Amino acid sequence: MQIKATDTPLLDWTGDLLAVGILEGETELSGDLAQLDEKLSGTISELIADEKFEGKSATTAISRVGGKNPIRKIALVGLGKSEDLKLDSWRAATAAIARMAKKSKTLGISLPLGSESPESLAQVITEAMILALHQDNRFKSEPEDKELKLETVDLIGLAGQDKAIANASIVADGVILARELVNAPANELTPITMAETAQQLASDYNLEIKILEQSDCEQFEQGMGAYLGVGQASDIPPKFIHLTYKPAGTAKRKVAIVGKSLTFDSGGLNLKPSGSGIETMKMDMGGGAATLGAAKAIAQLKPDVEVHFICAATENMISGRAMHPGDILKAANGKTIEVNNTDAEGRLTLADALIYAEKLEVDAIVDLATLTGACIVALGNDIAGLWSTDNALAEEMKTAAELAGEKFWQLPMEEKYFEGLKSEIADMKNTGPRAGGSITAALFLKQFIKDTPWMHLDVAGPVWADSPSGVNNKGATGFPVRTLVNWVEG
Ligand code: BES
Ligand code: MG
Ligand code: ZN
Repeated sequence: MQIKATDTPLLDWTGDLLAVGILEGETELSGDLAQLDEKLSGTISELIADEKFEGKSATTAISRVGGKNPIRKIALVGLGKSEDLKLDSWRAATAAIARMAKKSKTLGISLPLGSESPESLAQVITEAMILALHQDNRFKSEPEDKELKLETVDLIGLAGQDKAIANASIVADGVILARELVNAPANELTPITMAETAQQLASDYNLEIKILEQSDCEQFEQGMGAYLGVGQASDIPPKFIHLTYKPAGTAKRKVAIVGKSLTFDSGGLNLKPSGSGIETMKMDMGGGAATLGAAKAIAQLKPDVEVHFICAATENMISGRAMHPGDILKAANGKTIEVNNTDAEGRLTLADALIYAEKLEVDAIVDLATLTGACIVALGNDIAGLWSTDNALAEEMKTAAELAGEKFWQLPMEEKYFEGLKSEIADMKNTGPRAGGSITAALFLKQFIKDTPWMHLDVAGPVWADSPSGVNNKGATGFPVRTLVNWVEG
């Protein structure tokens, strides 16, 4: 499928399906739309009347045009009220168009421009089009959705925005990589294949790569005992992945992105009971998947920022070698952890990954993790939790997220709750009481950061969608690749 900005005026566009956007309450046609309606013998006004189309956000109506017209079908899509317009209005409208357009070969899209820049609209529409149409058929012997026939998409009224379209396709490809990694089951996507994916990215896009094997991890500082403890029952070796993007000139900033990369989380000896979603725990590398997705996009967009991408990949399994509940592990900075619950494994892997990231002397560290069910309880499936030791960093990420249409909510780093993690025998336990579970998880991670501005994102909810909505289809969403890319690009 090719998306391009066309300078063909709305009235002259020809093809299978023409989708036009209408603002809520603006169904009295005027200007170009009125002329088009006249040209199409009143098809648009008839469709509005027949379907009682009001222009409400993401609502649609479609009709055959008939006769000898050079357009086969016309579709209307609502953008909601003009005073409520934001980038998400165009995303939702485009996703709705994408779902109607699967059977057409050529599609023209003409949406009102509002007060947004043509550049951001071209970007948003392109991203939404690619992401809403993306279907992961890799694991079906026969693709389920054979209907996708779309060959060309013309963005009408956005002539000259080729660069924005090209950049948006790069970002969308990064999101799709993250989706594919998360969708892949744990027998496909293992620490080994995850490391191979990173190797491939490094050679395709000229990134530096370092894979620390188990013995390298044992030797790093005082030994990555927390990370290695989690992986010790797996038959697959752990792979500590470190990709680096360096700009051609001098970097104006150095940052690290650290993604939780549990390719499967059985819970360990605190085994996840049936009904707890154990069969969905292939998604527990969602943070690492988004890290690699962002790496793929950033390597092509080439911002003036040095970025380190870190994924401490492993599986949380059971065997005679499994860590016992109550074991004491030592992280690379020498801090000791009493593992009172083997299912709180993500924070153990992240502890060593954060220590490693801080040694790189970066200006900021962001970790993202499918860390706690408690965060889903607090914020639901669509919103990620955000904690930060640095207000400026938190504000940067919120701006990046707003632009991306991905939702975050900042939660408190309530130091007093660390009391819940006090251990009689070690420096700390890995889990506290049920109450405030996502906050104690953030406080645990904070123990492994000295003074670098740091942010923790708990993405347990939004990396997966149970039903299609907006640009997401059922399954992995690729959250929050777009936010990370926006943040790095500043
Ligand atoms: N990977 C899970 C968190 C999770 C739950 C992600 C649901 C996505 C959906 C994490 O490792 C975990 O098991 N957390 C425990 C922590 C508890 C033992 C303190 C949890 O949330 O129950
Ligand atoms: Mg767990
Ligand atoms: Zn986990």
